Amino acid sequence: MKKVLITTGGGDCPGLNAVIRGITKRAAKTGEWQVWGSFEAFNGLMEDPPRLMQLNESNTAGIHVQGGTLIGTTNKGNPMRFPVKKADGTIEIENRLPLLIQKIKNQGFDAVINIGGDGSQEISQALFEQGIPVVGVPKTIDNDLSSTDFTFGFQTAVQVASDSLDRLVTTAASHHRVMIMEVMGRNAGWISLYTALSGGAEICLIPEIPYDLEKVIDRIKSRYDDGRGFVNIVIAEGAYAKDGTITSSKGEEGRQAVKLGGVAFTLSQQLKDAGLEADIRETILGHIQRGGTPVAFDRVIASVFGVKAMELVLDRKFGQLVVLRNNDFSSAPIKEAISTYNVVDPSGTLVQAAKGMGMCFGD
Ligand code: F6P
Repeated sequence: MKKVLITTGGGDCPGLNAVIRGITKRAAKTGEWQVWGSFEAFNGLMEDPPRLMQLNESNTAGIHVQGGTLIGTTNKGNPMRFPVKKADGTIEIENRLPLLIQKIKNQGFDAVINIGGDGSQEISQALFEQGIPVVGVPKTIDNDLSSTDFTFGFQTAVQVASDSLDRLVTTAASHHRVMIMEVMGRNAGWISLYTALSGGAEICLIPEIPYDLEKVIDRIKSRYDDGRGFVNIVIAEGAYAKDGTITSSKGEEGRQAVKLGGVAFTLSQQLKDAGLEADIRETILGHIQRGGTPVAFDRVIASVFGVKAMELVLDRKFGQLVVLRNNDFSSAPIKEAISTYNVVDPSGTLVQAAKGMGMCFGD
């Protein structure tokens, strides 16, 4: 039997289990491949003894409807910049890629399927360049990986955010308030834009369009002036004012990416400091955007991504990422997918359509 290793890396994301099940089912059909999962990305494989789980049709049955990931994940497991705690308590960053390569070989894996976002696919590319047969699957609620129209998990995050916005609209209207709802997305405004369009927000703020506070205030005032005295604002966690900076905080030890969150309060304070008299309330949706069962669209694309990833392995097309482009599934070089970041185009159709309906982006 040949052996394929599956890893899920970075933040968890609805649809991870559907990918795992898709790979496992397709591999089982060949009768020639065993599927193994490494716990918490590559960390499980790096441990001694390794923490691995053999996956089969019975232990993955029905998991496509479950959130999270059967084999766990971590955003502190990048083998190229691995945080190691020293005796004096300080953290030293080590490149453990050579050790990882050795472990993959020693365990007799014939292929690796790495399910993750841009950080994880950077690892895939590095492994591929060192001769490891790797295939990537694009995961992230942020939808910021290029080469694919959608990553799985994004539609679920938007659905959760849109449902939440609907609830905020009625309370905003009842109290004539300004509601600020902060959504995730890192440096991409996709979740914010889709949610604002879906829920009909008056103001949508995204990192791709640094906002002018005066413009935001003008739009709020116009809503009160025209008698509809309430406003719903959707703001991406990575958004910032033209003359301001991103709202972030120090993350946990060993975490490489900056920790975003709290811009709803930053904006609220800016509006108050500018003399806005309306009542303002802030909601930070946070991780409920990532938890729970995936919506049908994400289950479908995640399942197909899983099957296609296994087929790339069978066809020995390594260094490739499965992608969804123009309503069809294919693959693209991982190198291409990580070379640029997929962000909202301020002059693109979606932003222009939203503006056509009167939505303010603070520009
Ligand atoms: O990349 C997915 C994501 O949910 C981002 O939208 C967010 O900024 C980040 O992960 C949060 O990371 P953590 O779960 O480590 O706080």
